[in-house]
Amino acid sequence: MCGITGYTGINQAGPILLEGLRRLEYRGYDSAGIAIQSEKSAETENGSAPASSIKMLKATGKVSHLVEKFEAEPDFKGVCGIGHTRWATHGIPSDTNAHPHLSADGKFAVVHNGIIENFAEIRAELQKYGIEFKSETDTEVIVQLLAYNYKGNFKKALMKTIARLTGSYAIGVISDEYPGTIFAAKQASPLIIGVGIGENYFASDITALVSNTKNVIDLDDGEVAEITPDEVKVFDHTGKEIDKEIRHINWDIASAEKSGYEHFMMKEIMEQPQALKATIEPRIKCETLNCGDTDLSIVFDEIKGLDMKKFNRVHITACGSAYHAGCVGRSIIESLCKIQVEAEVASELRYRDPVMDDKTLVIVISQSGETADTIAAMKECKYKGATVLAIVNVVGSSIAKLADHCIYTWAGPEIAVATTKGYTTQVAVLAMFAVWAAGELKTISHGAYTSLILDIMHLPERAQRALDLNTKVKKMADKYYDNQSLFFIGRNMDYAVALEGSLKLKEISYLHSEAYAAGELKHGTIALIEPGRLVVALCCYEKLFEKTVSNIQQVKARGAEVLAVAHEGNRSIFQEADDVLLVPQTDALLVPVIEIIPLQLFAYYVAKKNGCDIDKPKNLAKSVTVE
Ligand code: F6R
Repeated sequence: MCGITGYTGINQAGPILLEGLRRLEYRGYDSAGIAIQSEKSAETENGSAPASSIKMLKATGKVSHLVEKFEAEPDFKGVCGIGHTRWATHGIPSDTNAHPHLSADGKFAVVHNGIIENFAEIRAELQKYGIEFKSETDTEVIVQLLAYNYKGNFKKALMKTIARLTGSYAIGVISDEYPGTIFAAKQASPLIIGVGIGENYFASDITALVSNTKNVIDLDDGEVAEITPDEVKVFDHTGKEIDKEIRHINWDIASAEKSGYEHFMMKEIMEQPQALKATIEPRIKCETLNCGDTDLSIVFDEIKGLDMKKFNRVHITACGSAYHAGCVGRSIIESLCKIQVEAEVASELRYRDPVMDDKTLVIVISQSGETADTIAAMKECKYKGATVLAIVNVVGSSIAKLADHCIYTWAGPEIAVATTKGYTTQVAVLAMFAVWAAGELKTISHGAYTSLILDIMHLPERAQRALDLNTKVKKMADKYYDNQSLFFIGRNMDYAVALEGSLKLKEISYLHSEAYAAGELKHGTIALIEPGRLVVALCCYEKLFEKTVSNIQQVKARGAEVLAVAHEGNRSIFQEADDVLLVPQTDALLVPVIEIIPLQLFAYYVAKKNGCDIDKPKNLAKSVTVE
């Protein structure tokens, strides 16, 4: 939510900042702006020094609008600057509310991602001193307070300022009095520093930097960085300089590019077999026994110290699609480990005073590792004594660091706002975790253990075969794209997939769509079924296939059209549904990884046919770092 970036070096900062913002745009796209310490030549027309050497450019809407403005300003030059792409929280998307924000004296400019909770109080206080505010944002208090606190020492003023802030922030600040220097600070919002040669950077995440450097420093909460072209110094909250490790990122630039695809979402859908392989393979151990047989096992080096016997219940928490993955995880873990498992959205759990103690294992799931509600929920659970295991994609993210144990999904960078490979790799990790835990708890037979591992190993290839449905799904989307209201139904695992399929469709196509447990429809919602309504019926969970067929018949009797997803080999579904998509067979517990793929493609093509901006759906942002 909001992307920030900064550059200081020998090259022109403008194009570098704009390129960084373009890559960060998935975090917010209401407006964008850059501020640059202008070069000496940028003095006023009569030759006197300008009131401020900080120049700003802002544009409402996408980064491309800002690029147009920049291209029309050949004098917008400088080698040190900061940039921001916004997802509005305080104040409408407008040029005035767009970042960077400038102090009243014009000496400081700031970009900010996060929310300053005590901004109203600080603002009122500064207004009493006669300081005038230009925007409606919470961010502006940071820069006005900084200018107010400044008595000749930039770092000191910044430390005093951030000590006053409550809430979350990742900020980058420049001052006209410190050419070539950027200060950055963070609390509960992501910020990394990119280390180059003779030039350094900062950004909300690596996607903005990967084309320039793969060496990064993770700034931790409460730390402040002083970034100059030749040096990065990091200070703790007391102002003491500390040593920080440089981490080498192994993402290549192609990970942050569309590589010939029209949208990141399609690229990421297509990357799923590879992402699943990268997530699964390193955790499967295959040993040849003396008798010549092979013995398969799941090995999680990262959770060696986790003793499953200690827990009498598991609580899964997450948001959005990650929560849907959690719903799948609940069924798999409960079924294999014979332990009570609950799944709950983090925004509810955090305020519910849940009953848990040191015998509770909490599993938090997050692609970004930065989701504010998930972080708050996990803190609450830790406070109650639970052990927290995180399943996270972004290495070094807040959730990964805060958790007691962390398993990474190796999906690679996910740029499209709608998650696809993030979700399927989460489900794959949950399945592997459940099998591993069942092995530890001895609640699974050796045969079932081995057979499930084999099925898990086949997931990448089965996902690839599900992707072969691409052309057929596109035809379905062409047929049904103008349905204004859709229902997704299913039972058990199929219901969990219905939740995710429905979310995928609504978030990128803006069509009204609801997911229902198939048996629940008749308790009220069936009133909405009328001739021509599309019902997507998920029928891969074969144990309950006949039951779902009854529900299909109920909606068909009321005129609905039914698009069914079932396993290859299921012939009877053709008698029940108007259209059928057949996906490769897999173990019942692993169905969601495969079954979601045609639904992702369906959402994509429906949104495309409706002319929607697939990678940047309206009102959304990728990393939800606000409550
Ligand atoms: C939907 C989607 C969101 C995220 C949710 C949690 O396609 O991407 O619902 O799943 O915002 O995000 P993470 O996984 O980053 O915590």
